[in-house]
Amino acid sequence: MNNSDKENVLNKSVINCYPGHMAKAKRQIKEQLDFIDIVYELIDARIPYSSKIREIQGLLKNKKVLLIMTKMDLCDIVVTEKWKKYYEEQGYSVIGVDLKNQANLNAVFKKTEEMMQDLYEKWQQKGLKKRKTRILCIGIPNVGKSTFINRFVGKRKTHVGNKPGVTKQLEWIRVNEQFELLDSPGILWPKLDQEYVAIHLACMNAIREEILPLEDVVWYFLNFLGTYYPNILKERYGIENTSEVEEMLEQIGKKRGCLKKGGIIDMEKVIQIVMNDLKSDTISGITLDRIEQIESK
Ligand code: G4P
Repeated sequence: MNNSDKENVLNKSVINCYPGHMAKAKRQIKEQLDFIDIVYELIDARIPYSSKIREIQGLLKNKKVLLIMTKMDLCDIVVTEKWKKYYEEQGYSVIGVDLKNQANLNAVFKKTEEMMQDLYEKWQQKGLKKRKTRILCIGIPNVGKSTFINRFVGKRKTHVGNKPGVTKQLEWIRVNEQFELLDSPGILWPKLDQEYVAIHLACMNAIREEILPLEDVVWYFLNFLGTYYPNILKERYGIENTSEVEEMLEQIGKKRGCLKKGGIIDMEKVIQIVMNDLKSDTISGITLDRIEQIESK
């Protein structure tokens, strides 16, 4: 299969998965919105567009949203900074965090306070007592939501009693004297409306393997590295960039000794090697989403 055949395969791979799940989660979020002061939407710094839950944007239009970019330690800072600016221009507050090394979490507290100032003032003007800020935390699977909540809440994790009108199963967590956090009800999925969105999510291990063929994911990823990060091809696999992915796979196969009987390259093994790198976040310094890509839509 040559590069253009592969592109055709990818073009056919646009999938709409879990519409039922999504509708239910949206409904549950809608029911909670009156109780929420601020929404933390977590996005992966390497795929700041693909990992964003664009489907609920309308639902949150009157809410203050803090976009928290996770996995900053793995992204290409220069490209991700452009995304930060892009979202700030759209009116979002944006903070990047590295949850592995617990970097920048204090900035989240500080930013939340800052975003709440006008509400605090409003409460005061109305003669209302200052109550805890209620935060809803949302994000697609694997974005780092559980890690974030654990880091944000720390050892203090205690559950808050039920609120009137709030579904009992929902988990409100006391963060500190000032904040309470609600983990998002249901599971939220990204919108796979562009072929590159699906494939970027698959590259970053954010959608199940079965959704796209591994071969296509690896093919796309190597092609992407060749285009944007040829140094990584050299550093990680010891190979030179060529315009043909097939050749790159062969080179990796030779370097890693993936040979079948008769000295034929075992492509399945090579694909697995690259896939394992993706799954284990071995490759850092990359951002897959590009602003040019969405602007050229
Ligand atoms: P989720 O609840 O949104 O599904 O995601 P979760 O917190 O489980 O995080 C998914 C994976 O991403 C975990 O790795 C977690 O450690 C990793 N992760 C989250 N935030 C960051 C970050 O800022 N930087 C880096 N480098 N990794 C991050 P895992 O391998 O699945 O689990 P674990 O063995 O690390 O616990």
